[in-house]
Amino acid sequence: MASAWWPYLTLALLSGLAVSGFPRSPFQLGKRSLPEGVTDGIEVYSTQISCKVTSRFAHNVVTTRAVNRADMAKEVSFDVELPKTAFITNFTLTIDGITYPGSVKEKEVAKQQYEKAVSQGKTAGLVKASGRKLEKFTVSVNVAAGSNVTFELSYEELLKRHKGKYEMYLKVQPKQLVKHFEIEVDIFEPQGISLLDAEATFITNDLLESALTKSFSGKKGHVSFKPSLDQQRSCPACTDSLLNGDFTITYDVNRESPANLQIVNGYFVHFFAPQGLPVVPKNVAFVIDISGSMSGRKLDQTKDALLKILEDMKEEDYLNFILFSGDVTTWKEDLVQATPENLQEARTFVKNIDDRGLTNINDGLLRGISMLNKAREEHRVPERSTSIVIMLTDGDANVGVSNPEKIQENVRNAIRGKFPLYNLGFGHNLNYNFLESMALENHGFARRIYEDSDANLQLQGFYEEVANPLLMNVELEYPENAILDLTQNSYQHFYDGSEIVVAGRLVDEYKDIFKADVKGHGAINDLTFSEEVDMKEMEKALQEREYIFGDYIERLWAYLTIEQLLEKRKNAHGEEKENLTAQALDLSLKYHFVTPLTSMVVTKPEDNEDRQDIADKPGEGPRGTSVVPSMALMTGYQPPQNAYFYVDGDPHFIIQVPEKDDALCFNIDEDPGTVLRLIQDPVTGITVNGQIIGDKRDSPDSKTRKTYFGKLGIANAQMDLQIEVTTEKITLWNGAAQSTFRWLDTVTVTQDGLSVMINRKKNMVVSFGDEVTFVVVLHQVWKKHPIHHDFLGFYVVDSHRMSAQTHGLLGQFFHPFDFEVSNIHPGSDPTKPDATMVVKNHRLTVTRGSQKDYRKDARVGTKVICWFVHNNGEGLIDGVHSDYIVPNLF
Ligand SMILES: *[C@@H]1O[C@H](CO)[C@@H](O)[C@H](O)[C@H]1NC(C)=O
Ligand SMILES: *[C@@H]1O[C@H](CO)[C@@H](O)[C@H](O)[C@H]1NC(C)=O
Ligand SMILES: *[C@@H]1O[C@H](CO)[C@@H](O)[C@H](O)[C@H]1NC(C)=O
Repeated sequence: MASAWWPYLTLALLSGLAVSGFPRSPFQLGKRSLPEGVTDGIEVYSTQISCKVTSRFAHNVVTTRAVNRADMAKEVSFDVELPKTAFITNFTLTIDGITYPGSVKEKEVAKQQYEKAVSQGKTAGLVKASGRKLEKFTVSVNVAAGSNVTFELSYEELLKRHKGKYEMYLKVQPKQLVKHFEIEVDIFEPQGISLLDAEATFITNDLLESALTKSFSGKKGHVSFKPSLDQQRSCPACTDSLLNGDFTITYDVNRESPANLQIVNGYFVHFFAPQGLPVVPKNVAFVIDISGSMSGRKLDQTKDALLKILEDMKEEDYLNFILFSGDVTTWKEDLVQATPENLQEARTFVKNIDDRGLTNINDGLLRGISMLNKAREEHRVPERSTSIVIMLTDGDANVGVSNPEKIQENVRNAIRGKFPLYNLGFGHNLNYNFLESMALENHGFARRIYEDSDANLQLQGFYEEVANPLLMNVELEYPENAILDLTQNSYQHFYDGSEIVVAGRLVDEYKDIFKADVKGHGAINDLTFSEEVDMKEMEKALQEREYIFGDYIERLWAYLTIEQLLEKRKNAHGEEKENLTAQALDLSLKYHFVTPLTSMVVTKPEDNEDRQDIADKPGEGPRGTSVVPSMALMTGYQPPQNAYFYVDGDPHFIIQVPEKDDALCFNIDEDPGTVLRLIQDPVTGITVNGQIIGDKRDSPDSKTRKTYFGKLGIANAQMDLQIEVTTEKITLWNGAAQSTFRWLDTVTVTQDGLSVMINRKKNMVVSFGDEVTFVVVLHQVWKKHPIHHDFLGFYVVDSHRMSAQTHGLLGQFFHPFDFEVSNIHPGSDPTKPDATMVVKNHRLTVTRGSQKDYRKDARVGTKVICWFVHNNGEGLIDGVHSDYIVPNLF
């Protein structure tokens, strides 16, 4: 169910030790006073919750040890609440040193054994739905007097990113004092951990300071909670436990790179969550049930949530309200823009919504869908916008078309895969499977809204998840000959704060470069994020992680695959459904997952036929979700043979003159902070300016000081476009819309008349149309270098479309010009002859020198021989160099 969109890892430990009268044990201990922490004869002396998370994949083990201190046999039960999205992977029971292992069986087989066990009066373990996000696992066993018992339950889950973080939510409720109680969480994230927190609803200041520790550094995070017996008391003299409530761990990973690709033992996982992109405008049809059953609190909460949602609408968004009861009414005839005036009117409209009549889901949905289709066809909404339908109902259709299958068919045919449908089921008095199945087949998801005082917050929370689409039509691509068994790799949207995850298997012995591309349509432009991994290096790098969780990527892949198969199965029929079932079952058995198709059977070791306890997963299984990873590609930009103009280094300007097969060069020496005009073309509207930075010594002496370009501003006035490049990041402004990329990304951005390609840590290629191309080279120095900073080089590799009016320190050379060199003679440096140059009607003394072209390799560079013009290019450049100083970058 919808809970897969909640990345909570929820687990409740209810050590509620139910006690029931059992025949007296032959070994009576006689009367004695029982020690503390003993409830009705049963002492739970140890409870450990251990969570190991590697790359979002969580492996949890809950172990509880108890001893029967009573003088008769007692029934001890072990209850754990775990997230609905988790799969139990193991359960063992140890009584007096004898272990009863669990094994995963196909459900039908297990069910017979379960029934047999129950009919024989044996206790059986069961998993039941419990609360919003949890399932409760319960096992009871009869323990003889003086005997002890250990329960150990393992479960696994892929944590899903939700509103910018991963969340593990453990419900803790031991019900008695436990001598040794601990929660230990170890997180390993290859991208590095950026935040980690742990809190509990029951925690006091004392516990916070002395029992809870949390820390993270680099790739590792740790949380530990170990309250002593005294710290567990609800008051100093009390014998009941204050540990009762929610223990929540949240974390996120570094997002410097939009994606991360990991490959271990023949399996890969690709996480994708880009940051810094502008939000795609949305066209939202709110299709709201106002039938009689909604009256009262439900409708009030809905209205409250809609009012809050209106506050969050952005001016670029479009919306309408479609209210359905027995018939359909709408706020406006068509979608309208979320202007302040319209929003004001919308608020008044929402406040006045009244309930009435029956439930006509079919007509409500079809009206909303046709409105979105029409707005698109008539170009009344922005070209680059995305449409969504959000439908809320609290009951089943009972008027008009009320057959769920028929409604589903109508909706499918109306949407035709063009946009997602999100169904919100309010309360339990409805056919949730129908809502879920319909949403899934239309690329959305369903969410249950629990009837409670926070229903309005649940509704808002759902909206926040889909409020900020950053990319549309996201496709994740891998080398075709390299992969097998890929999980879902196309998503209609990437929403800010979430993450797309794709996993797959590699063909045997794939030892090449593994390249991953993620393509998507953004608010302004099309983007391709690329990554590349050298398989051999990756294997090596990942060995350090093996000890934490050896086969985690394989299990993550299996988890995701099963989850998606089960989801697909919900809308499948006939042979296809059988096929999906068979595949999901095979994987569940192979990887020991208790899914809706399998059960856990606990066997007495000495008697294979006598199964005692069974763990079962309720029918409403977990749903698949979006996950995405990605990797960095290093496509080296290949410069054309005759590149003409560039500035790099201290800043050295190089003007290549292909007609002469020679080059001119000059330096500009200016103070750090100065901005120089490199290119200005009034006709195409293109300008490029560069800002000078100094070295780390901050020396005022211009003789020894090194200066570089630390920041470049590339603007195209006609396109209302600005690109700011620093040694840290690249920021693109399309009008007011801002996209930010890091030098760690490999990404291609395309839009009408513009292409920007960032090659991770190397260079950036900017093209305006076919005939203007610039390359910015990133020079990275050792971070602790005593003198040098990172700096930038700027290369004009194609200037064909620049007009004859182009000017600037580089731009003035775009039009053909001539020079003559004569009188070559030895200079002050014997290796560098001087000469006389006639250029632009000036006679200059120049020196033979060389500079480097770093386009191919920012470290080594290719030598370029040139005639060096002294004194800041005096005589070569028009005017003097200070004429090129401008006040700011744009
Ligand atoms: C289940 O857990 C027990 C006890 O920790 C362990 O010995 C056994 O190998 C586990 N089984 C599986 C399939 O992981
Ligand atoms: C639990 O049982 C094992 C095996 O019978 C025994 O070694 C151990 O001491 C017992 N522990 C307690 C606390 O009774
Ligand atoms: C069922 O699965 C097999 C192999 O797993 C495949 O070849 C076949 O095409 C599938 N049939 C359907 C209807 O999906």
